[in-house]
Amino acid sequence: MINPRLGALPPYPFRRLAALLDGVNPGAPPIDLSIGEPRHAPPPQIARFLSDPSARWNAYPPVAGTPAWKEAVADWLARRYALPHRMIPPQAVIPASGTREALFMLGQVLIDATATGAPPLVLMPDPSYLPYLGATLMNGAVPVAVPARAETNFQPDFGSLPEAVLARASVLIACSPANPQGTLIDADGWRRLVRLARAHDIVLVADECYSEIYDRAPPPGVLEACRDLGGSLDGVLVCNSLSKRSSAAGLRSGFVAGDPALVEAFSRLRAYGAAGMPVPIQEASAALWADDSHVAENRALYQAKIDAAQARLGTRMGFYRPPGGFFLWLDTTGWEEDGETAAVRLWRDHGLKVLPGATMSADPAQADPPGRHRLRLALVHNQATIEQALDRLIAAAPG
Ligand SMILES: Cc1ncc(COP(=O)(O)O)c(C=O)c1O
Repeated sequence: MINPRLGALPPYPFRRLAALLDGVNPGAPPIDLSIGEPRHAPPPQIARFLSDPSARWNAYPPVAGTPAWKEAVADWLARRYALPHRMIPPQAVIPASGTREALFMLGQVLIDATATGAPPLVLMPDPSYLPYLGATLMNGAVPVAVPARAETNFQPDFGSLPEAVLARASVLIACSPANPQGTLIDADGWRRLVRLARAHDIVLVADECYSEIYDRAPPPGVLEACRDLGGSLDGVLVCNSLSKRSSAAGLRSGFVAGDPALVEAFSRLRAYGAAGMPVPIQEASAALWADDSHVAENRALYQAKIDAAQARLGTRMGFYRPPGGFFLWLDTTGWEEDGETAAVRLWRDHGLKVLPGATMSADPAQADPPGRHRLRLALVHNQATIEQALDRLIAAAPG
């Protein structure tokens, strides 16, 4: 009675964590660093748009987006990535209810579930955001999770995959800044990925939802690579949202931009199955995409927390300043514990809830997942709470 493909999905990381901590009581007032949910205050202008008595809550949302929303997103992309005028035409942008929904639904657009013979492959980082895996498995494709370890700057080396794998691949999902490691794909890396994908007729999907939370310099994006390679958007899609940029994850406001033919195909699917982004939310979103000052303030709050982490950790636990995103990706090797054992101890003895890196692997049963000796800590709480959590972490270090 239930789609058997659902059975192939491993439990979501937070379920895996809950099972791991089941029956273990926290040894101190809990601080939850496991979920990457922004806790900074969202910009006040959201409330104004949503409570306006003339807000059009009665209207069904236009699938393609209102003209004002499209213009705001295209303007933001042009401003942020120094794109030439009209490189992103209105038909190259479409609203999505956050990037998760977009990434998941794109599986239905980009994977040919009717293909005969060997099922298509979807290339993705390991570890990564598990909806990539969900989109793959639910559409009958086979995931190829490419390790993202320290040796390759925590980004997968897709270019080193065998020709036979590349030839069978339909989609390549790249994430920069990466969740969980916060490392970036540089401008050259994006150009190489665009060339690689185009050479093998693979659609390149760039998950850039952490693009505005960065440390020193704005992370390069895939659209800059398209610009550098002549301006064509062929075979390239980028997903982004206001969830992290504006601490507005509850607004469920994101977009997909890129190859107009693929955006049109996505639009056709969305007309059947998507909730659509309500008009008042499109209006609030347009205002947020047009404003960069609240984003700078938001970013500075994360930078101060990374400063606090650096001051306390130095080089302990393999600390490095994540160039993007708001996670620490810490190494438990020196603790002689794997991430799961360390996560249980941190909860039991110190009330810290952290995510063991292995829970973000597509194949949790693999012998040595790249995140096995890692913990992901989301620096989402206020400064004082994060400092308290870091102090507890230092106290937890063995020896
Ligand atoms: C890598 C990555 N992609 C996508 C998302 C989804 O974000 P949203 O749907 O809120 O845009 C998240 C959320 O945590 C994420 O970490």
